Amino acid sequence: MVARMMSFGLMGIDAFPVTVEVDISGGLPAFEIVGLPDAAVKESKERVRSALKNSGYSFPAKRITVNLAPADVKKIGPVYDLAMLMGFLCCDGSLAGDFSGVGLIGELSLLGEVRPVRGVLPMALKAREMGFRALIIPADNAPEVQYIDQIAIYPVRHVREAVELLMDPEKARPLTPIQFKAEEEEDFQIDFADVKGQFIPRRAMEIAAAGGHNLRMEGPPGSGKSMLAKRLPTILPPLEFEEALECTKIFSVAGRPGQDLCRTRPFRSPHHTATYVALCGGGQNLTPGELSMAHNGVLFLDELPEFTPQVLDSMRAPLEDNEITVARANGTVTYPCNVMLVCAMNPCKCGYLGHPTKACTCSPGEIQRYRHRISGPLLDRIDLHVEVPAISYEELSTKAPGEPSSAIRARVIAARKRQQERYKDEGISKNADLTSPMVKKYCKLTPEAEQLLKQSFDKLELSARGYYRILKVARTIADLAGAELIELAHISEALRFRNIHDYE
Ligand SMILES: Nc1ncnc2c1ncn2[C@@H]1O[C@H](COP(=O)(O)OP(=O)(O)OP(=O)(O)O)[C@@H](O)[C@H]1O
Ligand SMILES: [Mg+2]
Ligand SMILES: [Zn+2]
Repeated sequence: MVARMMSFGLMGIDAFPVTVEVDISGGLPAFEIVGLPDAAVKESKERVRSALKNSGYSFPAKRITVNLAPADVKKIGPVYDLAMLMGFLCCDGSLAGDFSGVGLIGELSLLGEVRPVRGVLPMALKAREMGFRALIIPADNAPEVQYIDQIAIYPVRHVREAVELLMDPEKARPLTPIQFKAEEEEDFQIDFADVKGQFIPRRAMEIAAAGGHNLRMEGPPGSGKSMLAKRLPTILPPLEFEEALECTKIFSVAGRPGQDLCRTRPFRSPHHTATYVALCGGGQNLTPGELSMAHNGVLFLDELPEFTPQVLDSMRAPLEDNEITVARANGTVTYPCNVMLVCAMNPCKCGYLGHPTKACTCSPGEIQRYRHRISGPLLDRIDLHVEVPAISYEELSTKAPGEPSSAIRARVIAARKRQQERYKDEGISKNADLTSPMVKKYCKLTPEAEQLLKQSFDKLELSARGYYRILKVARTIADLAGAELIELAHISEALRFRNIHDYE
């Protein structure tokens, strides 16, 4: 007899259905799994065998074949254990019924406990999309799916619970979906009020947050670069539900299952020793890297020149495309990575080049080498370049706090609303995501602004990319000012933040 159960596999951050067919026939005892299983799937044999015995069922001494369909896609991980075990029980008659609309997800322990797996959120979304009536998941994965409605989701801790549920669905209670509400007030322990002075860097941060632009800060040690960057999340607009789902899917696939829905924009700050795989993703399971974990949020690279140049350069294409393709011998997956890149660095190795009181001890060669660690094409992808100068004693010792994050955030949210309204038919939500044709359509300038941009194009030797990026930043500055047309002041401020001459 052949039993058919439904489960799911992962392809990037999306799930696809997998039919688990179990066939038990006469003949010499054997157990085989076919359909491109990886090592973890093959080990299901031992887990399912023990889990069955230890849950009070017998393991058939017959010829067993498990087929995972579709056969041409690699099946990864222990997620199919639960479906296989239920297939066994259907074959030997312990379980009967039509389970074609029931998804089964879960790894098993030898004692029959159902263990958490990666990617339950995308699997639940897929099951709902396919019109499944129920989904059985490991109890520890429940937090990530608690916002999913229109499908009955049953968290279970043990195989026996799952069996009871399938035998008598009336008795069981599915999760009650929670309604999503955007977090208006987030409780951050830090605030822009802590930052004294530094008006221009603060302004750059506000523009970056309002349009989702990339930002680079340069300044001597202790001037407050890291401090500013850490406060960026406190002024970003709240995460929308769709964005929250995307972020949670990525975390779920990255092997941090069971977390609550992501409620705040991610802020990822990988160390400069991070490898290519850690940053861009890959490895044995093709998991997402920091770049994708920062999706819809901020990727902060502190001490930028300390990062390996090759690793930095590998981020160039993903930063442009907002997605990254990770390829290995065992397949290719694409993860989203729409991030705000924020970088901080010193002006030179010793850190004091251009400092008002301290002398720089670097040789010209050292300064050159330091700067050349960051490639021109990477710099070209950064819209806002800002100097964070050493702060004076007078400024630091003033009692007056800086403007609080809440006030800045209110302006950022207002500017973002204008953008969302303007781009509602374009499928984007912020100026940083404008394509070149969209820039032409939406970034209209006054004649004086046009004139200035024309002059500067030659003077600054702008690249085509630089030209579009300046227009996008100017669009954001105009949005912060509530202006529909880009005016002279907006373009000139955008140009001031494009100061990367020392690098060419
Ligand atoms: N503008 C400021 N207002 C208040 N405190 C400041 C300011 N700038 C720096 N500080 C204080 O100095 C400390 C060091 O600042 P921070 O770590 O941000 O410097 P940095 O620019 O990142 O330096 P480095 O280049 O060495 O990484 C902060 O934790 C803070 O206490
Ligand atoms: Mg720092
Ligand atoms: Zn120096």
